[in-house]
Amino acid sequence: MLKILMIDDDTINNRIAESTLRNHNYEIVSVTSCEEGLRRLSEGGMDLLLLDIDMLHEAGDSLIEEIRRQPGNENMRVVFLTISGYSPDQKEMERLGVVDYIGKPYFEEELVNIVRRVLYVEHENRILVVDDEMMNLMLAKKLLSTHYQVQCVSSGGEALTVLEQSVPNLILLDLHMPDMNGLSVLKRMQESDNQDIRNIPVIFLTADGDKETEAEIFKAGAMDYIQKPLVAQVAVERINRILELRYLQNSLQTEVEQKTKELEESSRKIKNLSMQIMYALTGAVDAKDQYTNGHSNRVARYSREIARRMGKSKKEIDNIFCAALLHDVGKIGVPDEIINKPSKLTDEEYEIMKSHPVIGANILRRISELPELSVGARWHHERYDGKGYPDGLKGEEIKEIARIIGVADAYDAMSSNRSYRDALPQDYIRREIEKGKGTQFDPEIADIMLQLIDEDTDYHMREH
Ligand SMILES: [Fe+2]
Repeated sequence: MLKILMIDDDTINNRIAESTLRNHNYEIVSVTSCEEGLRRLSEGGMDLLLLDIDMLHEAGDSLIEEIRRQPGNENMRVVFLTISGYSPDQKEMERLGVVDYIGKPYFEEELVNIVRRVLYVEHENRILVVDDEMMNLMLAKKLLSTHYQVQCVSSGGEALTVLEQSVPNLILLDLHMPDMNGLSVLKRMQESDNQDIRNIPVIFLTADGDKETEAEIFKAGAMDYIQKPLVAQVAVERINRILELRYLQNSLQTEVEQKTKELEESSRKIKNLSMQIMYALTGAVDAKDQYTNGHSNRVARYSREIARRMGKSKKEIDNIFCAALLHDVGKIGVPDEIINKPSKLTDEEYEIMKSHPVIGANILRRISELPELSVGARWHHERYDGKGYPDGLKGEEIKEIARIIGVADAYDAMSSNRSYRDALPQDYIRREIEKGKGTQFDPEIADIMLQLIDEDTDYHMREH
């Protein structure tokens, strides 16, 4: 378990941090004085120090130097605790080797993120060192093993073989090697089919510090270079900087993926909910009319198929489907005894029945996200020759969506059972649609309906 020391005289803050970090499986010790902190650190075993910046200022900057002089604490990671809204001086942080800061009071998540990031960089990373000189490999292993899991290989070819088996978090790559030099190894990595290999950050190890080499290294795609012979503190700082950058990139990507997933999930839920509400409304309409059970659903399915054959986009097809589903919603406002009257309607009753498109359009007008709904409801009883209702629109004055629903609606009226008759024969319906081309129906849409009828050889497309 990773161990954290917290030096802060704010005991309330200490208690909150203790419980937060323990919940995330860190061991935490908190002390309220710098002397006590130094003593605990000297006992060794601490992986991270959370240090109140005011207490440091009281004790003096030399406190951090004193900590780093302690055996085993040379590279102690330090995070400042400050007051929210106060950013410590960046230069001061760099000079003291403080890796980050967090303002109090903080959210639990903020504290855990900072601790995880800082500790991750030091403890969970595997570094592959590639160098043809044994002395260099031994030195690298000795200096870096206290911070990372280190694997050493002595040639570029060997490195590429190792990468095929497992991918390290970072590679320290010698620039000059006899068989395959560092730049060739990097090039081979960049050409790999494995994205993980292409993404491994590479730091070159080089003895030449000239500008041309530096330019060449960065041009090749390396993240950094370190001069040989290795100096532990410099190497660890530069490696950590790159690991931290990579960690942040990965976290950001994970967060983006997570948020995208959440967004997709909630948009899927909203879509489902909308569909369920529409089906519920449709059910309410169909329930009122005992002789046209399932009428709205069938009209919606026929309209969708017509729209698909007209080459409409997925979104348009979906909208037409929804509009057709709700085209008769205005019947909610027509008395039951008129809708279900078994005998012929009187003129007055017929006028009331004819009000359903307007009632429907008024109900659906409030759904501003889908204006197609009220269009379909209002004009599905218009006729191509202008003799329909409620507005007597003609030809292309009638919105296409309503012309589609109009054809599908008429087809279903004829192919479903009524109180006074069964579904009409298919060839009769076919003739009626043919006859209505250009008078009742848009001729092109009627042709598509005829196509559907002709393909429906066993007259499956009717109310069962
Ligand atoms: Fe209708």
